Amino acid sequence: MLDLLETHKHFIMPHLCRGCTAVDFTMGNGHDTLFLSRSVGPEGKVLAFDIQKAALLSTAALLEKENAPKNYTLICDSHHRLRDYLSGSFRVGMFNLGFLPGGDKSITTLHETTLPAIEAAISLLERNGCLIVAVYPGHAEGAVEGRMVEELLSGYDRSRILTAKFMLVNSPSSPFFFLVEKG
Ligand SMILES: C[S@@+](CC[C@H](N)C(=O)[O-])C[C@H]1O[C@@H](n2cnc3c(N)ncnc32)[C@H](O)[C@@H]1O
Repeated sequence: MLDLLETHKHFIMPHLCRGCTAVDFTMGNGHDTLFLSRSVGPEGKVLAFDIQKAALLSTAALLEKENAPKNYTLICDSHHRLRDYLSGSFRVGMFNLGFLPGGDKSITTLHETTLPAIEAAISLLERNGCLIVAVYPGHAEGAVEGRMVEELLSGYDRSRILTAKFMLVNSPSSPFFFLVEKG
């Protein structure tokens, strides 16, 4: 049966190009960083954020093992500080909210920093760029985050920025995701 979170790549792919800049806002174990690194190729650039040293170590090991192009910068800082690390714009961004799989479940993304991070991301997103925000509502903070992200994204002007939500209607506690496209 459908793995909803795998379908978000279908939306990202048309926006990704060789040589462009992409941002992984929640590096975790590096699977999204690896996907972005391969997609933009050696001439592109990937910034990846996480607040946990363990995530940087895990991601660095994965990228090395998979022989990813050396086009990435792993940043140990909160994603809401995007502007401290990126002066220009970027084409594709991925937020995979929640806690580090296999790590400390008490360290999770929090709406206090997630919302400013999404606002910063949308302001630096290129025209014809896109963002994905995956939400895990099965834990308390995830449920709050999901509602607050939806409220934030509902307020953007549709003529400039499209925002959409993809979820399983008969399983509301399953992960779901938002898509943001800048026209
Ligand atoms: C669900 S995991 C990400 C999974 C990852 N994309 C992958 O492919 O393995 C969420 C990650 O967000 C990180 N995180 C929590 N708060 C953060 C923040 N303020 N800025 C950046 N990363 C944060 C957590 O440490 C955790 O590793």
